[in-house]
Amino acid sequence: MAAVLESVRAYFAPSVFTIDAENPGDVVARENLLDRAMGPNRRKKSSEKIRRGRVPADGLALVARDRDGHVIGTVRLWNVEAGVNAEGTPINALLLGPLAVDSSFEGKGVGSALMRAAVLEAKNRGHGAILLVGDAPYYERFGFFAEKAQHLVMPGPFERSRFLALALIEGWLDGAAGMIVPSGRMLATAPVRRAA
Ligand SMILES: CC(C)(COP(=O)(O)OP(=O)(O)OC[C@H]1O[C@@H](n2cnc3c(N)ncnc32)[C@H](O)[C@@H]1OP(=O)(O)O)[C@@H](O)C(=O)NCCC(=O)NCCS
Repeated sequence: MAAVLESVRAYFAPSVFTIDAENPGDVVARENLLDRAMGPNRRKKSSEKIRRGRVPADGLALVARDRDGHVIGTVRLWNVEAGVNAEGTPINALLLGPLAVDSSFEGKGVGSALMRAAVLEAKNRGHGAILLVGDAPYYERFGFFAEKAQHLVMPGPFERSRFLALALIEGWLDGAAGMIVPSGRMLATAPVRRAA
């Protein structure tokens, strides 16, 4: 009986996870999670070219934690220029990814909670649009569609039907055309020490 009660309590528990800002102590757990969820080829993606050597957009590196504080999900967003508008002015936007959830927590709403938190935080911070490369049947529920990114290209191979966008500010991507290029701050690199 105790076991039954315990499982009922667990089922109705308000939440088995929380969404939090990523901190430096989460990096190893996040990278291990991404290796498990996305496999060894994850660093060869076109999106990775945009992320490499950059820091995520301010306040837009999020994790999901289990009750013990362990990282069970991750999402980060990156500053980019999403082509130019009709006047030739670069359009500031965000590139979202990677999003991943620990397989033992899949289907429990962790990915959705990360997505909703990321979109809300991006909007609150005044960003105009988010782009991503991913499965449309998953991301359409958060408002991402291929149509908005139809005249934009990634810097490398990508599938047009998986290149999606969400305008956080109405009309932000109207007329957007051209290549996605990184515009975020560079990662600080340690100075090279020369032998005396
Ligand atoms: C995709 C992923 C982030 C979803 O996380 P999650 O916490 O399991 O998602 P949620 O619980 O919020 O949502 C589950 C729902 O999404 C659906 N879903 C999950 N992955 C999907 C996909 N690739 N395409 C379409 N639907 C998908 C599930 O069928 C489920 O549908 P339902 O609500 O109708 O039952 C997770 O499965 C994952 O990390 N996968 C490996 C890495 C990856 O593929 N990342 C995304 C790159 S496109």
